Amino acid sequence: MTQPRTRPNQPKRTVSIIGTGSYLPERILTNQELEKLVETSDEWITSRTGIKERRIAGEDEHTSDLAAKAALSAMENAGITAEEVDLIIVATVTPDMFFPSTACFVQTKIGAKNAACFDVSAACSGFLYAIEIAQQFITSHTYDTILVIGAEKLSSIVDWTDRNTCVLFGDGAGAAVLRHRGGGHGVISTFMASDGGLSDILYIPGGGSRFPINKANAAEHQNCIKMNGKETYKHAVISMLDAAQKVLAEANLDPSALACIIPHQANLRIIEAISDRIKVPMERFMINLDRYGNTSAAAVAIALDEANRTGRMKVGDYVLLVVFGGGLTWASSVIQW
Ligand code: ACO
Repeated sequence: MTQPRTRPNQPKRTVSIIGTGSYLPERILTNQELEKLVETSDEWITSRTGIKERRIAGEDEHTSDLAAKAALSAMENAGITAEEVDLIIVATVTPDMFFPSTACFVQTKIGAKNAACFDVSAACSGFLYAIEIAQQFITSHTYDTILVIGAEKLSSIVDWTDRNTCVLFGDGAGAAVLRHRGGGHGVISTFMASDGGLSDILYIPGGGSRFPINKANAAEHQNCIKMNGKETYKHAVISMLDAAQKVLAEANLDPSALACIIPHQANLRIIEAISDRIKVPMERFMINLDRYGNTSAAAVAIALDEANRTGRMKVGDYVLLVVFGGGLTWASSVIQW
């Protein structure tokens, strides 16, 4: 069994992403199929969100299954074995169960027997929150190799009768392996923020200890995502812009220095608004929401893997990751790839 290896009085060290991976379920749900479920249209969904299709996990495919597949792909990309993983952090709002943590299920599925495991709950911002947590553990020499995963089976918490929300979300998982790599590369600056006063614009009311789920509130879909779309949109633009500007200032970088921006994949119009305001052309933004919709904590992780595998970042390039989500929460990170 692994014990945390605390080595006080060591100089801080840089933290790099040395491998990425992702997994998307096979089943594709198109806008045309949604037209048969609720009163909507491909034209409405595409023009308001940019989403064309999303992936839906099988009934017997759980969040930990998606997470484990993304993790294995990231470990292969990083060239590490499961035994080398010291810590697994899973960011999710759709854990397999309240407890044990989804990270514990992933540990067993990938055979990472030396790892400590826990989940992070920060909605769509969870993956970047988890990167920041992992960074602290590596910087302080507590752990050497950390697996950070964003994984969601949002189809299990979507109200499929609510056209305001059901067209937006999808299932999937992304993962990253973090380690000190040397050579000055790595995470340069990070930022996290929250505003609990805005919890009621994006939330799931039922199923927790406040409103344990029962027949009556389940019939009202109280265990599903509720969202005030207009308010969420407004705060998404403001908070992502704020988060981006803060890390760029801390890193002493002009937005024009960024080779790639990996934003939360919620809505194309939100990304266009950010592009317009920080004056970085849309071509530099990694976008896959047209194919996967909003996969909450998995979204930025999946996009990061796609950007990595399609060669959008080269060693030494500056990359900005920026997210927002329920809480509200928002976060950002500048990484020298
Ligand atoms: N199909 C057709 N019509 C629809 C649909 C739909 N799927 N959904 C809503 N409408 C209707 C509404 O009922 C409304 O009709 P009404 O005028 O008769 O009342 C009309 O379309 C306009 O609705 P708006 O809410 O004004 O549409 P808007 O342009 O704001 O777009 C949207 C809605 C896409 C949800 C947008 O507000 C948005 O993207 N918000 C941010 C959402 C987001 O990012 N959520 C993820 C958060 S991340 C996380 O933590 C999970």
